[in-house]
Amino acid sequence: MAEITGIRKTLEKHGQGHLLRFYDELSDRQRGVLLEQLAAIDFARMDDIVARYVRQVPGWNLQGRLEPPAIVPGKPATPAAQAEHKAARAKGAELLAAGKVAAFVVAGGEGTRLGYEGPKGCLEATPVTHKPLFRVLAEQILAASRRYGVAIPWYVMTSQGNDVATRAFFRQHRYFGLDADDVLFLVQGTMPAIGFDGKLLLADKGSLALSPDGHGGCLSALRRSGALDDMARRGIDLISYFQVDNPLVHCIDPLFLGLHALREAEMSAKGLPKRDPMERVGNFCVLDGKVTVIEYSDMPADLATATPEDGRLRFAFGSIAIHVLSRSFVDRLTSGEGPPLPYHRADKPVPCIDEHGKPVKPDTPNAVKLEMFVFDALPLATGTVILGIDRREEFSPIKNAAGPDSLSSSLHDQVRRAAAWLEQAGVSVPRDADGQVAAAIEISALFAESAEDLKAKIDPAKFTLVGGQNLYLGD
Ligand code: UD1
Repeated sequence: MAEITGIRKTLEKHGQGHLLRFYDELSDRQRGVLLEQLAAIDFARMDDIVARYVRQVPGWNLQGRLEPPAIVPGKPATPAAQAEHKAARAKGAELLAAGKVAAFVVAGGEGTRLGYEGPKGCLEATPVTHKPLFRVLAEQILAASRRYGVAIPWYVMTSQGNDVATRAFFRQHRYFGLDADDVLFLVQGTMPAIGFDGKLLLADKGSLALSPDGHGGCLSALRRSGALDDMARRGIDLISYFQVDNPLVHCIDPLFLGLHALREAEMSAKGLPKRDPMERVGNFCVLDGKVTVIEYSDMPADLATATPEDGRLRFAFGSIAIHVLSRSFVDRLTSGEGPPLPYHRADKPVPCIDEHGKPVKPDTPNAVKLEMFVFDALPLATGTVILGIDRREEFSPIKNAAGPDSLSSSLHDQVRRAAAWLEQAGVSVPRDADGQVAAAIEISALFAESAEDLKAKIDPAKFTLVGGQNLYLGD
């Protein structure tokens, strides 16, 4: 009783008293849920958030000097660059063999654009054996563990909405061959939806309208969950970060890890030339001397399309959300109070209840959702390597139900990469009149991790591949 009086007072002081409007109608269990949600919110900080992100529309201040960043080419052209790559690969391999590297996937997103029910990582995403995305990633981690002779711990970030289903999926599939002790789950935080009047929304009488706090929430989640301490105990120095939606990702890349280490970076990123100026990827820039990613939705069109005299895009490189983070960097960013990164505002239609407790399903935005983006940590890092990569080799995400960046475009790109690897190994691949691969080909990381690896493993003379064939190269 005393507790609820205190909470009521706090809420009223911060203009959020309506959140307890239906409290008396709730069962004990419902009351417990609501009180727990309220206890997780620092209402003084929420006042600041409302003032900063809801009462005004925060925008980018691009008045500072905005320049394109330096990119380390994935295919080095000069002898010096070739030597650096060689040293970096060796360094990366050394760090891996010494057990200094962890894998980290962010898989807490709601996948609204794709329209897939359930955790996106469960989506069947390969052309021949229809493996779920989680298995595709797990096999890479297992292959790298075998290659370097160490366990590579895999941290999987979920969200409240998909945590139970994600863990159950891993259990059901026996952790895809990984040791269950080396697969660690952490749940990201939530943010309440905030009405344009600054009042938090109720989803129903006993619950706030909450959503995941963005993949940038992974930094606090790593600390809060104990994952950072676990990494320290295991002797991990580097975190290889990737998203769940890209089956072509190289989860563990010795070159990238080695460049990050040799250049003493704190957070690094992979980038590629944008497909077109307005592609829906973050834009790499240098703002006031700091490497910064400006999201496609925030990048003014004139900057996104700017081409100086030579006709080339000025901001040509897009972020594919693949990073290396030093553990010490995450530790530093999360050692203070409060969120380590700024929020991004999105105005969204959020189902809720009105002041009479009646459900409202708006068609137009009625609230502000706030998310942190992990790439906002880049300008806070003392050193950053941006490694330019080949899209065909490493990036074909599944984001949309159809068209570009959909399951069908990704299946096509997976087959195309597998065919290219086979051709590099000397195998003849059937192609149709348009030059498209005329077979379904899938190569598990447990068979080969790269084109070079495949070349070393197969004898092209013993290999025939005919049109219409389904070829799977697995463990
Ligand atoms: C993201 C990047 C974009 C980048 C592109 C590359 C943002 C805002 N933009 O776009 O710069 O070029 O990927 O593919 O991220 N996730 C969570 N928790 C959340 C939200 C997302 O774990 O609260 C995870 C998702 O599960 C997914 C990833 O983050 O693995 C990407 O999220 P998504 O919202 O799909 O970002 P995009 O708009 O595709």
